[in-house]
Amino acid sequence: MRFNYIEEEFTKKSYFLDETVFDSDYIPKNLLHRENELIILSRIFLPLIKQPNSTSRKLIVTGNIGVGKTVTLHKFSDMLKESSKLRGINFEVVHINCRSHRTSYLILTKIVKSLIKDIPERGLSPSELLNSLMEVLKKTNTHLLLILDEMSIILNNDVDILYTLSRVNESNISKRKYLSLICVVKDVHMLKSLDDATLSTLQNEIIHFKNYTKQQIFDIIIDRIKLGVRPNIISKDIIEMIARMTARTGDMRMALKLIKNSVLYAERHDLNSVSPEAVRVANAEFSPLSRDDLNRLNLHELLIFKAICNVLQTQNKRYIPIKIIAEEYKILSENLGEQPRSNTQIWEYIQNLKNLELISVKILNKNIKGRKSMVSVQNYSIKTIQGELKRIIKERS
Ligand SMILES: Nc1ncnc2c1ncn2[C@@H]1O[C@H](COP(=O)(O)OP(=O)(O)OP(=O)(O)O)[C@@H](O)[C@H]1O
Ligand SMILES: [Mg+2]
Repeated sequence: MRFNYIEEEFTKKSYFLDETVFDSDYIPKNLLHRENELIILSRIFLPLIKQPNSTSRKLIVTGNIGVGKTVTLHKFSDMLKESSKLRGINFEVVHINCRSHRTSYLILTKIVKSLIKDIPERGLSPSELLNSLMEVLKKTNTHLLLILDEMSIILNNDVDILYTLSRVNESNISKRKYLSLICVVKDVHMLKSLDDATLSTLQNEIIHFKNYTKQQIFDIIIDRIKLGVRPNIISKDIIEMIARMTARTGDMRMALKLIKNSVLYAERHDLNSVSPEAVRVANAEFSPLSRDDLNRLNLHELLIFKAICNVLQTQNKRYIPIKIIAEEYKILSENLGEQPRSNTQIWEYIQNLKNLELISVKILNKNIKGRKSMVSVQNYSIKTIQGELKRIIKERS
């Protein structure tokens, strides 16, 4: 048989145990560091399980991108369904992402279709849909928790659904409550545009999901890697690097994408394990290097940046002491016939590179004999930076 590259690829062992654990809709078995939010939600909803349909809940969940709002609410829905099933209570949860259902009509149709399997396909009017919904809830004595996720999408567009839904509880003489609502928005200020009446339909309480800390991101990543990646492909040091890079925004989705893409990079380049450069390349996909930032640097800042990249590349390490960078910088300056700047000046230039987020700096041994500053490049591929620097330095010198 001729050499067959497809067969060759088959013989290679994938670096992943299961790549799907990095998919955005994957629901992890363990939800770490959201115990408090789950406890608060459970306390708020307990009366609905204790005395079905005697009361209802309306709350707003806020928090930045990728802080686990959706996944936590999925887990909470499972708990609600389990506890109500245990007690023979009819409780339904419909979780709607307003990004995929952008109008009141689409949302209402989705709710009704989730609850009534044999609803006719022909276009029912909104009031017919609402009536069918209320009839079913009453007839089956079912409480519905509706989660409107990414609600900001409909806020400036079509908020009729909020008026419509408020009628489910109000237009009912027996005073039984069949609908609870959780609305998810990034920031509570997004609700400013709503009038008071609508706002009161939405909210009794607000639960805010704080950003994850670096350590929390680290724990969550470790857990996911155990499921998704073969042992020894990602070192603790690399996980620490990714946790540090994503801690500023707390965005777990970004952290998981970085892991997946850097493992793919290592696999495609036949590296034994994920290298710092693999992570930088993966990250550069999300935040490309700004040429404007580089153009604003003076020649010596450019040379220092180049020195940093050279040393990081030859040593294949994450962090390099400033002393070694200064030595490399001096050689680069002299090669160009430039007088190297003083150590104080070098330090100032390094601070400037740090402020532009081109590099990061960490101080070691804060309390022991003297401090040692270590420099790293996290966000961009060294190869890409070197290409850009070569061009700009040539123009300037
Ligand atoms: N505590 C956690 N434990 C395990 N995985 C988590 C945790 N928090 C978030 N994740 C994972 O991170 C990703 C982002 O989480 P999620 O989609 O819930 O964020 P979000 O707050 O809803 O973001 P957005 O505002 O963009 O909708 C998901 O893949 C989710 O599985
Ligand atoms: Mg979400």
